[in-house]
Amino acid sequence: MRTAEIRERWLRFFEENGHTVVPSASVISSDPSILFNIAGMVQFIPFLTGREPAPFPRATSVQKCVRTQDIEEVGKTTRHGTFFQMNGNFSFGDYFKADAIRFAWQLLTRPEDQGGLGFDPDLLWATVHREDAETVDLWLEETSIPRERIQFRGSEDNFWHTGQPGPGGYCSEIYYDRGPAYGAEGGPEADEDRYIEIWNLVFMEFELSAVRSKTDFDIAGDLPAKNIDTGMGLERVAFLKQGVENMYEIDEVYPVIDEAARLSGRAYGDREEDDVRMRVVADHVRSALVIIGDGVRPGNEGRGYILRRLLRRAVRAMRLLGVTEPVLPHLLPRSMDVMRASYPELETDFDRISRIAYAEETAFLRTLESGTALLTGAVDRVGAGGALSGDIAFALHDTHGFPIDLTLEMAAEHGVRVDEEGFRTLMQEQRDRARADARAKKGGGADLSAYSQLLEEGSTEFVGYDVLTADSRIRGLVADGRSVEVAQPGDTVDLVLDVTPFYAESGGQRADRGLIRGDGFTARVLDVQAPVKGLPAHRIEVVEGSLATGADVSAEVDRAHRFAAAQAHSATHLVHSALRTVLGPHAVQAGSLNQPGYMRFDYAFPEALSPALREEIEDAANIAVRDDFEVSYEYLPLEEAKRSGALALFGEKYPSVVRVVDIGGPFSRELCGGTHIGRTAQVGPISVLSEASIGSGTRRIEASVGLEAFRGLAKERTILQSLSEMLKVPGADVPGRVAGLLDRLKEAERTIADLARERVLAAAADAVAQARDVAGVRYSATQLGEVTDAGDVRSFVTDVRNRIDADAVVVAAIGTVSGRPSVVIAADEGAQARGLRAGDLVKTACAQLGGGGGGKPDLAQGGGQDAGRSAAALDAVATAIAGS
Ligand code: ALA
Repeated sequence: MRTAEIRERWLRFFEENGHTVVPSASVISSDPSILFNIAGMVQFIPFLTGREPAPFPRATSVQKCVRTQDIEEVGKTTRHGTFFQMNGNFSFGDYFKADAIRFAWQLLTRPEDQGGLGFDPDLLWATVHREDAETVDLWLEETSIPRERIQFRGSEDNFWHTGQPGPGGYCSEIYYDRGPAYGAEGGPEADEDRYIEIWNLVFMEFELSAVRSKTDFDIAGDLPAKNIDTGMGLERVAFLKQGVENMYEIDEVYPVIDEAARLSGRAYGDREEDDVRMRVVADHVRSALVIIGDGVRPGNEGRGYILRRLLRRAVRAMRLLGVTEPVLPHLLPRSMDVMRASYPELETDFDRISRIAYAEETAFLRTLESGTALLTGAVDRVGAGGALSGDIAFALHDTHGFPIDLTLEMAAEHGVRVDEEGFRTLMQEQRDRARADARAKKGGGADLSAYSQLLEEGSTEFVGYDVLTADSRIRGLVADGRSVEVAQPGDTVDLVLDVTPFYAESGGQRADRGLIRGDGFTARVLDVQAPVKGLPAHRIEVVEGSLATGADVSAEVDRAHRFAAAQAHSATHLVHSALRTVLGPHAVQAGSLNQPGYMRFDYAFPEALSPALREEIEDAANIAVRDDFEVSYEYLPLEEAKRSGALALFGEKYPSVVRVVDIGGPFSRELCGGTHIGRTAQVGPISVLSEASIGSGTRRIEASVGLEAFRGLAKERTILQSLSEMLKVPGADVPGRVAGLLDRLKEAERTIADLARERVLAAAADAVAQARDVAGVRYSATQLGEVTDAGDVRSFVTDVRNRIDADAVVVAAIGTVSGRPSVVIAADEGAQARGLRAGDLVKTACAQLGGGGGGKPDLAQGGGQDAGRSAAALDAVATAIAGS
């Protein structure tokens, strides 16, 4: 039975029994302290605790879940998956234990041809909490299970909570007996590999006030109602129903194993080590697919880090299987292919998903290469039998993203060990540093308590969309994280108002500037940030007088600054829309910055833009300016806003009612809280400054906006005019003329070098003729004057030596390279037989030139500081020859 079929049967069964079918929530948990959803009940917590009335008494879902605590176990056991699906049925104060047990038994044991899952009732077992004897009676009343297949267990196994304060309760679990081939008799108590847990029925009736561990928690009291929360592991049931050995071999996972085997040319089932790697690949690729699908991008923290780790582990596992080429372009489509039956959005969104995944692989393959170079170099240095230092292993891990086991494996291939202990010490030191940092930040976090306290008294009303000046009152002053009553001239403090026209930095738009004035005091607003949501803190510098909490003020935004920031923000929307028009809808926004005169927009796109595309984008944005579109706002429920075509930032959390900024009807529509100009003509020119990659398939376009753009263009025009006058050609011909001049310059430099070389060669004939006899040695000494480089001196000396016919020959020459003397001396065999070595003679010469040198007995080279001593240096060589 296919996995998609099991989920269908599940939903149909519970729907027929009065449950509302609720779609899976995103894998991203709405609670920021939990990175990913770990169970089906998470989206229903407010209904289970009674904080919100449940819109339906019964619900059922198949929830996408991600758990990575046991990532090291993946592939080694039958049932550890980083991504899995939990089928659940829920009752919010409606039915309780008896019905939950009866439903579960019915669905499990009903024959397949009657819509059930067709499990043999004789192979099912149940467990019950020791203090929950009534549940045993209910099992016996509601089902045909015999008493001997019900076991009591403790809180470790039969009490369920989320690990956080909130709902919890006793639970009763259902196990399936895989048979004696898989382990000892004796039920789940004896062997959880043979008896596989498939379904957990949780009787949610308590409110927990503190949770310290699985078994150590405080029960504050009863929940307002008795609820049911159940979870059936879809992958587990699938592998049992499909007659395979583990969850990696089910229809939704195995095709990726198959592809990994094909790519690596190794068979699945041949070697356990390879099998584990293929299972890791299949599991991680599927998790990454779903996680990116729900809006996460690879990063260095939180969810992004987990995603990065999954992708890199998959790529590394493939590498250990011998595949060094990019693998995700083969594996990811296979995974999507088998997952789309259950999650059609993975197919419609595959373009975006795959681009993110492939870019991450490319980035990793890049560091993998530099890391491999580092590792190979280090391995060569220590040689076979040696050990790689902990520092190297740590650098590989820290800078090149090499997991330690990859380092171990690669070093072992060269017969080199790794100082693992040294590596672990460095890792520990890094962790300690991080922890100390976190503590320091937490200390800094205490700063926020002053703002939180103010927020408790109410948030600040923002009126800055409509007015730029407002009468207000100082609600609080905060200096270095502490509330203060008064601020004096020269002080810089944070000021909180009850009403403000000041826009706090957000959505990429820089904060407003301006003044806050009151009776006898003036303060300048330097920045506005919201340290806690709903409470803009105006960072002010007191210019004159002193101000105190409670004082009435006039808050005045600097109009010119605001107007310029609004121009930049509207320009960003126009450029965004122009990008999508020219490049297509994949150019998804990744970030932005708007400040007076300047805008920056980051977007996902895999390749560099041609100059023509760049111009087309710039042109489209400026045409939108010329068209003088109206800029309007409206507030809409989030879903309606999205349906109306408004673009939202991926992964961003939006409130249920959002502000939509519309420019020119269909031209641009975005969810945005920023401030904008009224009509696009007010944006003024948009002049693109640069467009470049900022890594990982993300690009950045920068532009100057409005007056700033005009001034930049005017400045360039002045530069072009002066070049045009200098070169005496029209502006349009300047590039051609400069290119021509550069060519001629290069040509002239080549001619000069050739002439210098010819001069040196001509000097060789003179040198041969003028060689003199010094104590029976033919000695030729030449000052060459300025030469191109020391190589010229060298070829001169060897040339002269070859041309002198005598028993013993020494040739010396000094040339000047950029004002510095360069000396080369040759001694032939005859001279060497007389004890004359070129290396020694060069030292003698260099001593005169104020430098040093050396080389072989037949040819040596040196240099110095003082070219004026060249004659003395050549004489010193003659003296040395004479004295030999
Ligand atoms: N919430 C329960 C679990 O995750 C059903 O096991």
